[in-house]
Amino acid sequence: MEKLMITGGRPLQGTVSISGAKNSAIALIPAAILAESEVILDNLPLLSDVAVYSEILEELGATVTWEGSQMKIDPSSIKSIPMPNGPVKKLRASYYMMGAMLGRFKEAIIGLPGGCNFEPRPIDQHIKGFEALGATVTNEHGAIHLHAKELRGTKIYLDVSSVGATINIMLAAARAKGATIIENAAKEPEIIDVATLLNSMGAIIKGAGTETIRIEGVSELHGCRHSIIPDRIQAGTYMIAAAATRGNVLIDNVIPKHMEALTAKMQEMGIGIEEYDESIRVLGAPSYEHVDVKALIYPGFATDLQSPMTSLLTQAQGVSVLSDFVYSNRFKHVPELVRMGAKIRVEGRSAIIEGGQLNAAKVKAADLRAGAALVIAGLTVSEGVTEVTGVEYIDRGYDHLVSNLRLLGADVWRQTE
Ligand code: EPU
Repeated sequence: MEKLMITGGRPLQGTVSISGAKNSAIALIPAAILAESEVILDNLPLLSDVAVYSEILEELGATVTWEGSQMKIDPSSIKSIPMPNGPVKKLRASYYMMGAMLGRFKEAIIGLPGGCNFEPRPIDQHIKGFEALGATVTNEHGAIHLHAKELRGTKIYLDVSSVGATINIMLAAARAKGATIIENAAKEPEIIDVATLLNSMGAIIKGAGTETIRIEGVSELHGCRHSIIPDRIQAGTYMIAAAATRGNVLIDNVIPKHMEALTAKMQEMGIGIEEYDESIRVLGAPSYEHVDVKALIYPGFATDLQSPMTSLLTQAQGVSVLSDFVYSNRFKHVPELVRMGAKIRVEGRSAIIEGGQLNAAKVKAADLRAGAALVIAGLTVSEGVTEVTGVEYIDRGYDHLVSNLRLLGADVWRQTE
Protein backbone atom coordinates (compact mmCIF):
# COMPACT_ATOMS: atom_id res chain seq x y z
CA MET A 1 0.00 0.00 0.00
CA GLU A 2 1.26 3.44 -0.91
CA LYS A 3 0.95 6.50 1.32
CA LEU A 4 1.78 10.15 1.01
CA MET A 5 3.86 11.44 3.91
CA ILE A 6 3.81 15.17 4.61
CA THR A 7 5.78 17.32 7.01
CA GLY A 8 4.02 20.63 6.59
CA GLY A 9 4.49 24.15 7.84
CA ARG A 10 6.56 25.35 4.88
CA PRO A 11 5.11 28.14 2.73
CA LEU A 12 4.99 26.96 -0.91
CA GLN A 13 7.21 29.14 -3.11
CA GLY A 14 8.00 29.09 -6.83
CA THR A 15 6.25 28.16 -10.07
CA VAL A 16 4.08 25.18 -10.95
CA SER A 17 2.96 24.37 -14.47
CA ILE A 18 -0.50 22.84 -14.92
CA SER A 19 -1.06 19.88 -17.26
CA GLY A 20 -4.03 19.26 -19.55
CA ALA A 21 -7.49 18.80 -18.05
CA LYS A 22 -8.33 15.29 -16.86
CA ASN A 23 -12.04 15.78 -17.40
CA SER A 24 -11.40 16.88 -20.98
CA ALA A 25 -8.86 14.14 -21.72
CA ILE A 26 -11.18 11.34 -20.68
CA ALA A 27 -13.85 12.62 -23.08
CA LEU A 28 -11.48 13.51 -25.93
CA ILE A 29 -9.88 10.03 -26.03
CA PRO A 30 -13.20 8.19 -26.61
CA ALA A 31 -14.24 10.97 -29.04
CA ALA A 32 -11.40 9.75 -31.29
CA ILE A 33 -13.42 6.55 -31.86
CA LEU A 34 -15.72 8.61 -34.07
CA ALA A 35 -12.92 9.44 -36.54
CA GLU A 36 -11.79 7.30 -39.46
CA SER A 37 -8.14 8.41 -39.27
CA GLU A 38 -5.48 9.42 -36.72
CA VAL A 39 -6.29 11.83 -33.91
CA ILE A 40 -3.37 13.48 -32.09
CA LEU A 41 -3.96 14.88 -28.61
CA ASP A 42 -1.38 17.24 -27.13
CA ASN A 43 -1.02 18.48 -23.54
CA LEU A 44 -2.35 15.21 -22.17
CA PRO A 45 -2.13 14.73 -18.37
CA LEU A 46 -0.18 11.61 -17.29
CA LEU A 47 -2.87 10.04 -15.15
CA SER A 48 -4.07 6.55 -14.34
CA ASP A 49 -7.53 7.33 -15.80
CA VAL A 50 -5.90 8.30 -19.11
CA ALA A 51 -3.87 5.05 -19.10
CA VAL A 52 -7.07 3.03 -18.53
CA TYR A 53 -8.75 4.79 -21.45
CA SER A 54 -5.83 3.98 -23.71
CA GLU A 55 -6.22 0.31 -22.64
CA ILE A 56 -9.94 0.42 -23.51
CA LEU A 57 -9.27 1.77 -27.01
CA GLU A 58 -6.54 -0.81 -27.63
CA GLU A 59 -8.97 -3.58 -26.63
CA LEU A 60 -11.27 -2.33 -29.39
CA GLY A 61 -8.46 -2.56 -31.96
CA ALA A 62 -7.18 1.04 -32.05
CA THR A 63 -3.45 1.73 -32.19
CA VAL A 64 -2.54 4.04 -29.35
CA THR A 65 0.94 5.52 -28.97
CA TRP A 66 1.72 7.73 -26.05
CA GLU A 67 4.87 9.82 -25.92
CA GLY A 68 5.27 12.31 -23.09
CA SER A 69 2.16 14.45 -23.11
CA GLN A 70 1.13 13.48 -26.64
CA MET A 71 -1.20 10.63 -27.55
CA LYS A 72 -1.75 9.40 -31.10
CA ILE A 73 -4.89 7.36 -31.64
CA ASP A 74 -5.41 5.53 -34.91
CA PRO A 75 -9.03 4.38 -34.74
CA SER A 76 -9.22 3.03 -38.33
CA SER A 77 -9.21 -0.64 -37.21
CA ILE A 78 -11.63 -0.25 -34.30
CA LYS A 79 -14.37 -2.89 -34.13
CA SER A 80 -17.62 -2.98 -32.27
CA ILE A 81 -16.71 -5.28 -29.38
CA PRO A 82 -18.96 -5.70 -26.31
CA MET A 83 -17.29 -4.43 -23.12
CA PRO A 84 -19.50 -5.59 -20.24
CA ASN A 85 -16.46 -6.00 -17.96
CA GLY A 86 -12.77 -5.21 -17.84
CA PRO A 87 -11.20 -1.74 -17.79
CA VAL A 88 -14.52 0.09 -18.36
CA LYS A 89 -15.39 -0.86 -14.78
CA LYS A 90 -12.41 1.09 -13.41
CA LEU A 91 -13.57 4.47 -14.65
CA ARG A 92 -16.50 6.74 -14.07
CA ALA A 93 -15.96 8.36 -17.46
CA SER A 94 -16.25 5.05 -19.33
CA TYR A 95 -19.83 6.26 -19.87
CA TYR A 96 -18.40 8.24 -22.82
CA MET A 97 -17.85 4.89 -24.55
CA MET A 98 -21.64 4.69 -24.88
CA GLY A 99 -21.99 7.91 -26.90
CA ALA A 100 -18.83 7.33 -28.94
CA MET A 101 -19.60 3.67 -29.85
CA LEU A 102 -23.24 4.48 -30.54
CA GLY A 103 -22.16 7.33 -32.84
CA ARG A 104 -19.70 5.16 -34.77
CA PHE A 105 -21.36 1.70 -34.76
CA LYS A 106 -24.97 2.38 -33.72
CA GLU A 107 -24.46 -0.20 -30.98
CA ALA A 108 -22.52 -0.71 -27.77
CA ILE A 109 -22.41 -2.88 -24.67
CA ILE A 110 -20.62 -1.08 -21.84
CA GLY A 111 -20.34 -2.20 -18.21
CA LEU A 112 -21.72 0.36 -15.79
CA PRO A 113 -19.00 2.81 -14.84
CA GLY A 114 -16.89 2.70 -11.64
CA GLY A 115 -14.75 5.60 -10.41
CA CYS A 116 -15.15 7.97 -7.46
CA ASN A 117 -18.40 7.09 -5.75
CA PHE A 118 -18.77 9.87 -3.19
CA GLU A 119 -22.54 9.57 -3.73
CA PRO A 120 -24.91 7.89 -6.21
CA ARG A 121 -24.21 9.39 -9.61
CA PRO A 122 -27.11 8.56 -11.95
CA ILE A 123 -26.80 8.53 -15.76
CA ASP A 124 -30.52 8.85 -16.52
CA GLN A 125 -29.97 12.05 -18.56
CA HIS A 126 -27.39 10.30 -20.76
CA ILE A 127 -29.88 7.50 -21.42
CA LYS A 128 -32.72 9.93 -22.03
CA GLY A 129 -30.52 11.58 -24.69
CA PHE A 130 -29.60 8.29 -26.42
CA GLU A 131 -33.24 7.22 -26.47
CA ALA A 132 -34.32 10.57 -27.92
CA LEU A 133 -31.80 10.03 -30.72
CA GLY A 134 -33.50 6.70 -31.52
CA ALA A 135 -31.50 4.16 -29.53
CA THR A 136 -32.92 1.32 -27.47
CA VAL A 137 -31.19 1.22 -24.10
CA THR A 138 -31.40 -1.65 -21.62
CA ASN A 139 -29.50 -2.59 -18.49
CA GLU A 140 -28.60 -6.28 -18.56
CA HIS A 141 -26.70 -7.68 -15.59
CA GLY A 142 -24.92 -4.41 -14.86
CA ALA A 143 -24.03 -3.56 -18.46
CA ILE A 144 -25.77 -0.98 -20.61
CA HIS A 145 -26.84 -2.32 -24.02
CA LEU A 146 -27.43 0.32 -26.69
CA HIS A 147 -28.70 -0.27 -30.19
CA ALA A 148 -30.12 1.92 -32.94
CA LYS A 149 -31.14 1.21 -36.55
CA GLU A 150 -30.18 4.79 -37.18
CA LEU A 151 -29.63 7.86 -35.02
CA ARG A 152 -31.84 10.83 -35.85
CA GLY A 153 -31.26 14.38 -34.65
CA THR A 154 -33.87 15.79 -32.28
CA LYS A 155 -34.42 18.34 -29.50
CA ILE A 156 -33.31 17.16 -26.06
CA TYR A 157 -34.01 19.09 -22.86
CA LEU A 158 -31.77 18.04 -19.98
CA ASP A 159 -33.55 18.00 -16.61
CA VAL A 160 -30.18 18.69 -14.95
CA SER A 161 -27.38 20.39 -16.83
CA SER A 162 -25.03 17.43 -16.64
CA VAL A 163 -21.48 17.64 -18.00
CA GLY A 164 -21.40 13.92 -18.83
CA ALA A 165 -24.83 13.83 -20.50
CA THR A 166 -24.09 16.95 -22.58
CA ILE A 167 -20.81 15.49 -23.89
CA ASN A 168 -22.27 12.00 -24.41
CA ILE A 169 -25.16 13.37 -26.48
CA MET A 170 -22.72 15.49 -28.56
CA LEU A 171 -20.67 12.35 -29.26
CA ALA A 172 -23.64 10.29 -30.41
CA ALA A 173 -25.28 13.17 -32.32
CA ALA A 174 -22.12 14.16 -34.23
CA ARG A 175 -22.72 11.29 -36.67
CA ALA A 176 -26.54 11.18 -36.46
CA LYS A 177 -28.86 12.14 -39.31
CA GLY A 178 -30.06 15.76 -39.07
CA ALA A 179 -29.76 18.34 -36.33
CA THR A 180 -29.76 17.75 -32.58
CA ILE A 181 -30.42 20.59 -30.16
CA ILE A 182 -29.47 20.17 -26.50
CA GLU A 183 -31.33 22.58 -24.23
CA ASN A 184 -30.18 23.27 -20.66
CA ALA A 185 -26.77 21.97 -21.68
CA ALA A 186 -23.87 22.16 -19.24
CA LYS A 187 -21.48 25.05 -19.90
CA GLU A 188 -18.22 23.77 -18.42
CA PRO A 189 -15.00 24.57 -20.35
CA GLU A 190 -14.44 20.83 -20.95
CA ILE A 191 -17.60 20.82 -23.10
CA ILE A 192 -16.16 23.54 -25.32
CA ASP A 193 -12.93 21.51 -25.55
CA VAL A 194 -14.80 18.41 -26.75
CA ALA A 195 -16.83 20.46 -29.27
CA THR A 196 -13.59 22.04 -30.55
CA LEU A 197 -12.05 18.59 -31.13
CA LEU A 198 -15.19 17.27 -32.83
CA ASN A 199 -15.37 20.36 -35.07
CA SER A 200 -11.70 19.87 -36.03
CA MET A 201 -12.70 16.29 -36.93
CA GLY A 202 -15.34 17.70 -39.32
CA ALA A 203 -18.38 17.89 -37.04
CA ILE A 204 -20.71 20.92 -37.10
CA ILE A 205 -21.36 21.95 -33.50
CA LYS A 206 -22.41 25.44 -32.46
CA GLY A 207 -23.15 26.96 -29.07
CA ALA A 208 -20.88 24.84 -26.85
CA GLY A 209 -20.35 26.81 -23.64
CA THR A 210 -23.93 28.11 -23.72
CA GLU A 211 -27.11 26.38 -22.59
CA THR A 212 -28.18 25.61 -26.16
CA ILE A 213 -25.92 23.44 -28.29
CA ARG A 214 -26.77 22.63 -31.92
CA ILE A 215 -25.17 19.61 -33.57
CA GLU A 216 -25.60 19.12 -37.30
CA GLY A 217 -24.92 15.42 -37.89
CA VAL A 218 -22.37 14.38 -40.54
CA SER A 219 -21.80 10.93 -42.05
CA GLU A 220 -18.05 10.74 -41.46
CA LEU A 221 -15.40 12.34 -39.25
CA HIS A 222 -11.66 12.50 -39.87
CA GLY A 223 -8.50 12.72 -37.79
CA CYS A 224 -6.95 15.98 -36.54
CA ARG A 225 -4.56 17.43 -33.98
CA HIS A 226 -5.87 19.05 -30.80
CA SER A 227 -4.29 20.56 -27.69
CA ILE A 228 -6.18 19.92 -24.42
CA ILE A 229 -7.11 22.90 -22.24
CA PRO A 230 -5.31 23.31 -18.88
CA ASP A 231 -6.82 21.53 -15.88
CA ARG A 232 -8.74 24.19 -13.93
CA ILE A 233 -9.24 21.87 -10.94
CA GLN A 234 -5.54 21.07 -10.66
CA ALA A 235 -4.79 24.79 -11.00
CA GLY A 236 -7.33 25.61 -8.30
CA THR A 237 -5.87 22.95 -6.00
CA TYR A 238 -2.37 24.50 -6.24
CA MET A 239 -3.85 27.99 -5.75
CA ILE A 240 -5.55 26.79 -2.58
CA ALA A 241 -2.41 24.97 -1.38
CA ALA A 242 -0.35 28.14 -1.95
CA ALA A 243 -2.78 30.19 0.13
CA ALA A 244 -3.21 27.55 2.86
CA THR A 245 0.56 27.46 3.44
CA ARG A 246 0.77 31.28 3.23
CA GLY A 247 3.11 30.91 0.29
CA ASN A 248 3.81 32.78 -2.93
CA VAL A 249 3.25 30.66 -6.04
CA LEU A 250 2.94 31.38 -9.74
CA ILE A 251 0.51 28.89 -11.29
CA ASP A 252 1.42 28.67 -14.95
CA ASN A 253 -0.48 27.31 -17.98
CA VAL A 254 -3.95 28.26 -16.75
CA ILE A 255 -6.85 30.10 -18.30
CA PRO A 256 -7.56 32.77 -15.64
CA LYS A 257 -11.18 33.15 -16.85
CA HIS A 258 -11.84 29.52 -15.80
CA MET A 259 -10.71 30.36 -12.27
CA GLU A 260 -12.94 33.40 -11.66
CA ALA A 261 -15.26 31.91 -9.02
CA LEU A 262 -12.27 30.71 -7.00
CA THR A 263 -10.18 33.89 -7.37
CA ALA A 264 -13.17 36.01 -6.28
CA LYS A 265 -13.58 33.93 -3.09
CA MET A 266 -9.85 33.95 -2.37
CA GLN A 267 -9.73 37.73 -2.75
CA GLU A 268 -12.72 38.02 -0.40
CA MET A 269 -10.68 36.06 2.15
CA GLY A 270 -7.81 38.57 1.84
CA ILE A 271 -5.52 36.43 -0.33
CA GLY A 272 -3.47 38.31 -2.93
CA ILE A 273 -4.17 37.31 -6.55
CA GLU A 274 -2.32 38.61 -9.60
CA GLU A 275 -3.67 37.59 -12.97
CA TYR A 276 -1.58 37.38 -16.14
CA ASP A 277 -2.46 36.09 -19.64
CA GLU A 278 -1.78 32.43 -18.89
CA SER A 279 -0.81 32.39 -15.23
CA ILE A 280 -2.00 33.43 -11.79
CA ARG A 281 0.13 34.38 -8.79
CA VAL A 282 -1.22 33.59 -5.32
CA LEU A 283 0.19 35.58 -2.43
CA GLY A 284 -0.64 34.25 1.01
CA ALA A 285 -1.23 36.53 4.00
CA PRO A 286 -0.85 36.00 7.78
CA SER A 287 -4.61 35.79 8.39
CA TYR A 288 -7.72 35.20 6.33
CA GLU A 289 -11.36 36.27 6.60
CA HIS A 290 -14.09 33.62 6.76
CA VAL A 291 -16.34 33.40 3.67
CA ASP A 292 -19.42 31.49 2.56
CA VAL A 293 -19.05 29.40 -0.60
CA LYS A 294 -21.68 27.72 -2.77
CA ALA A 295 -20.50 25.03 -5.20
CA LEU A 296 -22.63 25.33 -8.34
CA ILE A 297 -22.50 24.38 -11.99
CA TYR A 298 -20.07 26.41 -14.14
CA PRO A 299 -19.39 29.35 -14.03
CA GLY A 300 -20.15 28.96 -10.32
CA PHE A 301 -17.64 27.66 -7.79
CA ALA A 302 -16.56 24.15 -8.92
CA THR A 303 -17.78 21.23 -6.81
CA ASP A 304 -14.41 19.57 -7.49
CA LEU A 305 -12.72 22.38 -5.54
CA GLN A 306 -15.18 22.19 -2.65
CA SER A 307 -13.12 19.62 -0.71
CA PRO A 308 -9.76 21.45 -1.13
CA MET A 309 -11.54 24.70 -0.20
CA THR A 310 -12.73 23.11 3.06
CA SER A 311 -9.09 22.70 4.07
CA LEU A 312 -8.32 26.34 3.22
CA LEU A 313 -11.31 27.55 5.25
CA THR A 314 -9.92 25.80 8.34
CA GLN A 315 -7.15 28.43 8.06
CA ALA A 316 -9.58 31.39 8.11
CA GLN A 317 -10.73 33.27 11.21
CA GLY A 318 -14.32 32.69 12.28
CA VAL A 319 -17.00 30.47 10.81
CA SER A 320 -17.37 29.76 7.08
CA VAL A 321 -20.26 27.89 5.45
CA LEU A 322 -19.48 25.82 2.37
CA SER A 323 -22.47 24.33 0.54
CA ASP A 324 -22.46 21.98 -2.44
CA PHE A 325 -25.44 22.37 -4.78
CA VAL A 326 -24.07 19.89 -7.34
CA TYR A 327 -23.41 16.90 -5.05
CA SER A 328 -25.30 17.25 -1.77
CA ASN A 329 -23.24 14.63 0.04
CA ARG A 330 -19.66 15.16 -1.12
CA PHE A 331 -18.17 15.43 2.35
CA LYS A 332 -16.05 12.29 2.81
CA HIS A 333 -13.06 14.52 3.54
CA VAL A 334 -14.75 16.05 6.59
CA PRO A 335 -14.37 13.18 9.13
CA GLU A 336 -10.71 12.89 8.13
CA LEU A 337 -10.13 16.63 8.58
CA VAL A 338 -11.86 16.37 11.97
CA ARG A 339 -9.34 13.61 12.80
CA MET A 340 -6.69 16.28 12.14
CA GLY A 341 -8.34 18.59 14.67
CA ALA A 342 -10.58 20.60 12.33
CA LYS A 343 -13.82 21.96 13.77
CA ILE A 344 -16.30 21.12 11.05
CA ARG A 345 -19.85 19.83 11.15
CA VAL A 346 -21.99 18.82 8.19
CA GLU A 347 -25.60 19.98 8.10
CA GLY A 348 -27.54 18.86 5.02
CA ARG A 349 -25.58 19.93 1.97
CA SER A 350 -23.35 22.33 3.93
CA ALA A 351 -20.14 22.08 5.93
CA ILE A 352 -19.83 24.58 8.75
CA ILE A 353 -16.16 25.26 9.31
CA GLU A 354 -14.66 27.03 12.30
CA GLY A 355 -11.11 28.21 11.70
CA GLY A 356 -8.28 26.77 13.81
CA GLN A 357 -5.01 24.88 13.76
CA LEU A 358 -4.74 21.33 12.43
CA ASN A 359 -2.57 18.49 13.74
CA ALA A 360 -0.72 15.71 11.96
CA ALA A 361 -2.68 12.44 11.78
CA LYS A 362 -3.11 9.25 9.78
CA VAL A 363 -5.94 9.90 7.33
CA LYS A 364 -7.54 8.17 4.36
CA ALA A 365 -8.59 9.66 1.04
CA ALA A 366 -11.96 8.19 0.08
CA ASP A 367 -12.07 9.92 -3.31
CA LEU A 368 -9.89 12.06 -5.55
CA ARG A 369 -10.74 15.55 -4.33
CA ALA A 370 -11.01 14.40 -0.71
CA GLY A 371 -7.40 13.26 -1.18
CA ALA A 372 -6.38 16.72 -2.42
CA ALA A 373 -8.07 18.27 0.62
CA LEU A 374 -6.09 16.05 2.99
CA VAL A 375 -2.77 16.81 1.28
CA ILE A 376 -3.46 20.55 1.60
CA ALA A 377 -4.40 20.09 5.25
CA GLY A 378 -1.15 18.17 5.85
CA LEU A 379 0.86 20.97 4.23
CA THR A 380 -0.41 23.42 6.86
CA VAL A 381 0.71 21.30 9.85
CA SER A 382 4.24 22.08 11.04
CA GLU A 383 4.66 19.45 13.75
CA GLY A 384 4.65 15.73 13.05
CA VAL A 385 4.04 13.78 9.87
CA THR A 386 0.64 13.51 8.21
CA GLU A 387 0.08 10.16 6.46
CA VAL A 388 -2.48 10.05 3.66
CA THR A 389 -3.59 6.66 2.31
CA GLY A 390 -5.91 6.16 -0.68
CA VAL A 391 -3.15 7.50 -2.95
CA GLU A 392 -4.65 5.59 -5.90
CA TYR A 393 -7.56 8.07 -5.88
CA ILE A 394 -5.21 11.06 -5.88
CA ASP A 395 -3.26 9.58 -8.81
CA ARG A 396 -6.46 9.65 -10.87
CA GLY A 397 -6.44 13.44 -11.02
CA TYR A 398 -3.04 14.90 -10.12
CA ASP A 399 0.01 14.01 -12.20
CA HIS A 400 3.44 14.75 -10.73
CA LEU A 401 1.81 15.88 -7.47
CA VAL A 402 4.74 14.93 -5.23
CA SER A 403 7.45 16.30 -7.55
CA ASN A 404 5.47 19.51 -8.12
CA LEU A 405 5.00 20.07 -4.39
CA ARG A 406 8.66 19.28 -3.70
CA LEU A 407 9.69 21.83 -6.34
CA LEU A 408 7.59 24.35 -4.43
CA GLY A 409 9.54 23.52 -1.27
CA ALA A 410 7.16 21.09 0.42
CA ASP A 411 8.46 18.14 2.40
CA VAL A 412 6.31 15.40 0.82
CA TRP A 413 7.21 11.88 -0.17
CA ARG A 414 5.63 8.57 -1.16
CA GLN A 415 6.12 5.56 1.05
CA THR A 416 5.26 1.97 0.21
CA GLU A 417 4.34 -0.44 2.98
N1 EPU B 1 -27.03 13.96 -12.73
C1 EPU B 1 -28.25 13.34 -12.81
N2 EPU B 1 -28.49 12.54 -13.89
C2 EPU B 1 -27.57 12.32 -14.85
C3 EPU B 1 -26.33 12.96 -14.76
C4 EPU B 1 -26.09 13.77 -13.68
O1 EPU B 1 -29.10 13.51 -11.96
O2 EPU B 1 -27.87 11.57 -15.81
C5 EPU B 1 -26.76 14.87 -11.61
C6 EPU B 1 -25.60 14.39 -10.73
O3 EPU B 1 -26.04 13.47 -9.74
C7 EPU B 1 -25.10 15.68 -10.16
C8 EPU B 1 -25.32 16.67 -11.29
O4 EPU B 1 -26.30 16.10 -12.13
O5 EPU B 1 -25.85 16.07 -9.05
C9 EPU B 1 -24.09 17.01 -12.12
O6 EPU B 1 -23.47 15.82 -12.58
P1 EPU B 1 -22.66 15.76 -13.94
O7 EPU B 1 -23.31 14.80 -14.85
O8 EPU B 1 -22.41 17.15 -14.43
O9 EPU B 1 -21.30 15.13 -13.46
P2 EPU B 1 -20.42 14.11 -14.25
O10 EPU B 1 -20.42 14.43 -15.70
O11 EPU B 1 -20.72 12.72 -13.84
C10 EPU B 1 -18.26 15.57 -14.19
C11 EPU B 1 -16.87 15.37 -13.69
C12 EPU B 1 -16.86 15.42 -12.17
C13 EPU B 1 -17.46 16.75 -11.71
C14 EPU B 1 -18.86 16.95 -12.32
C15 EPU B 1 -19.47 18.30 -12.02
C16 EPU B 1 -15.99 13.86 -15.34
C17 EPU B 1 -15.57 12.49 -15.67
N3 EPU B 1 -16.40 14.06 -14.10
O12 EPU B 1 -18.99 14.47 -13.65
O13 EPU B 1 -15.50 15.37 -11.80
O14 EPU B 1 -17.56 16.75 -10.32
O15 EPU B 1 -18.77 16.82 -13.76
O16 EPU B 1 -18.67 19.32 -12.51
O17 EPU B 1 -15.91 14.76 -16.18
C18 EPU B 1 -13.70 14.96 -10.37
O18 EPU B 1 -12.96 15.36 -11.28
O19 EPU B 1 -13.29 14.75 -9.20
C19 EPU B 1 -15.10 14.71 -10.66
C20 EPU B 1 -15.87 13.98 -9.89
